[in-house]
Amino acid sequence: MFRRRSAIEIKSADQLAVMRQAGLVVARALAAITDAATPGMTTGQLDSIARDVLADHGATSSFLGYKAHGAVPYPGVICASVNDEVVHGIPGDRALHDGDLLSVDFGAIVDGWNGDAAVTIEIGEVAPELRELSRVTRESLWAGLAQARVDAHLTNISHAVETTIVEAEAALGLRLGIVEEYGGHGIGSKMHMDPHILNYGSPGRGPVLRPGMALAIEPMVVLGEPDVAVLDDAWTVATLDGSRAAHWEHTVAVTDDGPWVLTALDDVRL
Ligand code: MF3
Ligand code: CO
Repeated sequence: MFRRRSAIEIKSADQLAVMRQAGLVVARALAAITDAATPGMTTGQLDSIARDVLADHGATSSFLGYKAHGAVPYPGVICASVNDEVVHGIPGDRALHDGDLLSVDFGAIVDGWNGDAAVTIEIGEVAPELRELSRVTRESLWAGLAQARVDAHLTNISHAVETTIVEAEAALGLRLGIVEEYGGHGIGSKMHMDPHILNYGSPGRGPVLRPGMALAIEPMVVLGEPDVAVLDDAWTVATLDGSRAAHWEHTVAVTDDGPWVLTALDDVRL
């Protein structure tokens, strides 16, 4: 059997520097949205904040008009997914309530180069187990980012994400389900590129990571069973049993100096 040669885009140092600019736009927008997301705000108002940040930086949206499934171009610049919505929630006139768990995903393009990240935001006071859900999901992201190293195999990332979640599940005595239908992705001159990055699996498989690769790592974890479906709006992915979800994402570059988190507010090299 033949195996397709790895087609993962390699970025020059100059191109990664531009991706860092895109990543900073993403980081600033998500920080502004995190500050603004309080009870009574609508998800559409949060989308407006992100549009303002894009305009302020002369950047454009990775998401607006995106056609993933052919028919319906994505109508927002953010995804705003509330409670049992996992990813790809469409922003609109839905108001946020005390106790909601909101994930916001945002992508920006600077000079043709993409940055993509997501945060999970606690609206007002949320239940303790939901805070744990979000914390574990974020920690699993950072465990994955730390594996984005030269000469490592891609699935070392997948395994680190899964291990963090499975160990926390046992330690906390909570049922944490990893959503399997969606995952991370290569990123650069397009938002979604090779390779697909699973949030579970054995280490030591898949392509070997090289300097200049950039990856978006994005664990999606639910407090219950991880089965999901796409709603009638053709975008929103929600759990079947109403389980609450968390989603955290960063874009990371593989460099000779270690993983460089391009969508962090501060300059983070792991
Ligand atoms: N940022 C999402 C991801 O990480 C994509 C959002 S879908 C879009 O895959 F249509 F809004 F772009
Ligand atoms: Co992504």
